[in-house]
Amino acid sequence: MDTIHGKHTRTLDAAGFHALASRYDNVLLDLGAGDGRYTLHTARRRPDCLSIGLDACADGMRKTSRTAPPNALYIVANALVLPEELANTASHMTINFPWGSLLTALLGADPALAVGLRAVICQSATMEIRLNLGALAQIGCSPEAAPDLVRQALWNGGFSGLRTCGLSAAELRACPTTWAKRLAYGRDPRGLLLQARRAPEHPSTLRALGALPATSLSQQQTLYYSPEGSA
Ligand SMILES: C[S@@+](CC[C@H](N)C(=O)[O-])C[C@H]1O[C@@H](n2cnc3c(N)ncnc32)[C@H](O)[C@@H]1O
Repeated sequence: MDTIHGKHTRTLDAAGFHALASRYDNVLLDLGAGDGRYTLHTARRRPDCLSIGLDACADGMRKTSRTAPPNALYIVANALVLPEELANTASHMTINFPWGSLLTALLGADPALAVGLRAVICQSATMEIRLNLGALAQIGCSPEAAPDLVRQALWNGGFSGLRTCGLSAAELRACPTTWAKRLAYGRDPRGLLLQARRAPEHPSTLRALGALPATSLSQQQTLYYSPEGSA
């Protein structure tokens, strides 16, 4: 798979990747990483983790990757065709403020996302997704409809127990991604946080799980980062 380090592109094979990942307790995978700021932040905060940012666009990640610590890795790939080298490695995944094909796949338009997620997650995997309500509106999806659509896509990807809550402007400001800041200081500073974890079992239908709790997650939105401004 292709990795970015500043202006250089390097190929990392499965053996090289597994040798790198084996040095860390956890592997964090951020899909649609944009400029890679979240990956950099989690790598600095969690030296025990390998923090991976993956985006289809290499250019956005060049600057951040140049000064990133050794436990940060930037991969150029389509999130709907995840590199085979990542198989069974991701212990925590994030998708922050997706747009384009990543957003529509998350809302159920492309089953390739679920196939990839199932292939890369390990036993105890957790997932956090942050959505921009404005981006949803642009593709005609209401904030009320989005959780159910994402729930189905994640279920197909091996995750269950989806919980959701709204993100306020203050919570967006504290979130260390560039699009969280843009949203926080924009005209309509509202987001949606969704969390799920790997399904313990994976029966063939979503109905088998029964009702899912709709708990407020505002105190729990920081599995792998500290809100900016905190110690
Ligand atoms: C609005 S930006 C968010 C960037 C970053 N997560 C943040 O919060 O600042 C959405 C990103 O999703 C990426 N993206 C969209 N579809 C993708 C796909 N199929 N595979 C990989 N990245 C994708 C885009 O290249 C873009 O960088």
